[in-house]
Amino acid sequence: MSDEIITRLNSARAAALEAVGRAAGASELEEVRVRFLGRSGEITQVLRGLGQAPADIRPELGRRANEVRVEVESALAEQAARLREAELELRLLAERVDITLPGTVALPGTLHPLSLILLEIERIFTAMGFEMAEGPEIETDWHNFQALNIPRDHPARDMQASFYFTDDVLLRTQTSPVQIRYMLAHAPNLPVKIIAPGRVYRRDDDATHSPVFHQVEMLVVDRGITMGDLKGVLGVFAREMFGRQTRVRFRPSYFPFTEPSAEVDVSCAMCGGVGCRVCKGSGWLEILGAGMVHPQVLRNGGYDPEIVSGFAFGLGIERVAMLRYGIGDIRLLFGGDIRFLRQFHPTGEGRVEA
Ligand code: DAH
Repeated sequence: MSDEIITRLNSARAAALEAVGRAAGASELEEVRVRFLGRSGEITQVLRGLGQAPADIRPELGRRANEVRVEVESALAEQAARLREAELELRLLAERVDITLPGTVALPGTLHPLSLILLEIERIFTAMGFEMAEGPEIETDWHNFQALNIPRDHPARDMQASFYFTDDVLLRTQTSPVQIRYMLAHAPNLPVKIIAPGRVYRRDDDATHSPVFHQVEMLVVDRGITMGDLKGVLGVFAREMFGRQTRVRFRPSYFPFTEPSAEVDVSCAMCGGVGCRVCKGSGWLEILGAGMVHPQVLRNGGYDPEIVSGFAFGLGIERVAMLRYGIGDIRLLFGGDIRFLRQFHPTGEGRVEA
């Protein structure tokens, strides 16, 4: 009887240890545990059967059976730990980082020259108390032209070859419609004192014209505004933008939405006004169109020209960037060539790198 129990115990022990050694995962290990140590497991059965063993050898058999149980339990625990370790090693191997490989250099970006100029313009005008305004790039014919005194058959339209969606909807050719939109949204509040930067579109494409370009519109409306105010504001702007020595010159011009109108030149920053290649020998650079807001435009914006007056200008950001940085071809600004773009540094200085 006792021999038979010992034999069963030993063969169960051997089978259990072998099964533990072969188990390749947590669920297989659990199967082994149930098979040998579970409620009706082989070793558990032996322990239960001990009741029938002769009383004199029962303690000895019990001790032996318990040893086997403990041995199998610790074998299970050891195998479980081994499997966990192996799995971890595999994962580490898969995620291994080779620290001898060369690193990836993160190149710091630089602002686009147009962004630099725009930020500068915003700084100058917000310091003078101007507010930023915006308008849509898809515009109605009325806002883009008619409300600015440019009816459908007006020859001024010829200078702004446009992209139309329908007879009444187009890509805006200028930022001037923001004047109308802002006035209509704020009339009769005073003062109006805004700059409105944005993208504009014209069917033009050569070294100095791009079909997509950027303008900044400026508008002031208040009681008693005169052309002297316009000259003052433009003088501050020109000196801040192009340097303290910069002089400003007004030439008579024509825009349907201003009366009187002027083309505004600044003295050439490259040569100080004596004449060079950039200013084509004249000593002056044309940078914007400006004027006193036409009474009808004030009316179209909801203001009474008997009570208020105003001035406005429109400036091409590309033109300012080209003059300021000495860029000869407008297309460089839109080419996305990193060798070109990396030369511009937030200080405004050209940067040359090896
Ligand atoms: N909108 C004009 C253009 O694109 C520029 C301009 C001229 C705007 C005179 C103005 C202005 O506000 O007063 O050619």
